Amino acid sequence: MRLTDSEFRAMNSAPRRFLQRRVEFPLFQRMGLAPRDLDIIEIGCGSGYGAELISRCGPRSYVGVDLMPEQIALAQKRLIPGAEFMARDATDLSCFGDSTRDLAVIFGILHHIPTWRAVITECHRVLRPGGRLFLEEPGNRVMALAHRLSPEAHPKEAHFDLSQLESHLAAVGFAIESTRRAFGFGFYCARKPVTLAKAS
Ligand SMILES: C[S@@+](CC[C@H](N)C(=O)[O-])C[C@H]1O[C@@H](n2cnc3c(N)ncnc32)[C@H](O)[C@@H]1O
Repeated sequence: MRLTDSEFRAMNSAPRRFLQRRVEFPLFQRMGLAPRDLDIIEIGCGSGYGAELISRCGPRSYVGVDLMPEQIALAQKRLIPGAEFMARDATDLSCFGDSTRDLAVIFGILHHIPTWRAVITECHRVLRPGGRLFLEEPGNRVMALAHRLSPEAHPKEAHFDLSQLESHLAAVGFAIESTRRAFGFGFYCARKPVTLAKAS
């Protein structure tokens, strides 16, 4: 769902960029995020700061999708060479073919999406076998605090526990390779396994 005005301002602020640059992105890198020469999709790319960080690493291609056209307009203004941005609902990525991306990246968006499980299912579909999803989401305590401060900002269907997130990653076929906890958030690296053809 769309961000409230106050969250839109918070998400597009200098402190948010600082956290993404100094904490979240480096943590993903320590977990193995290495975009060089890969086809990347970022889900819920917001105003494109993640795109800047990823694009500095030399991906083969980068596409960011976000529900809010206002966010996409801000991202396009960054004029990042080779980066493409699209206003799309991440629960339906049918404009991307099956097995067409090497990496999917999510910086904290599922807690805005009532049907968040569909986003994970779509990530699995668009990733190539062996491709990886890097994902961060707030845990229960952070969500409880966010709900107290701003009850209308997040749909109640998206108040999931990180164990539910992990269960759904496994249910769609991801293998969770590594997990970290930081500041009440869960960080994940999950791989779409390579399935070997059965010998007849
Ligand atoms: C908390 S912000 C995070 C933005 C950015 N990833 C960041 O870390 O700064 C959540 C983002 O998810 C987007 N969003 C919410 N629902 C969405 C959906 N169904 N499909 C795609 N993007 C969505 C919002 O527009 C917003 O930009």
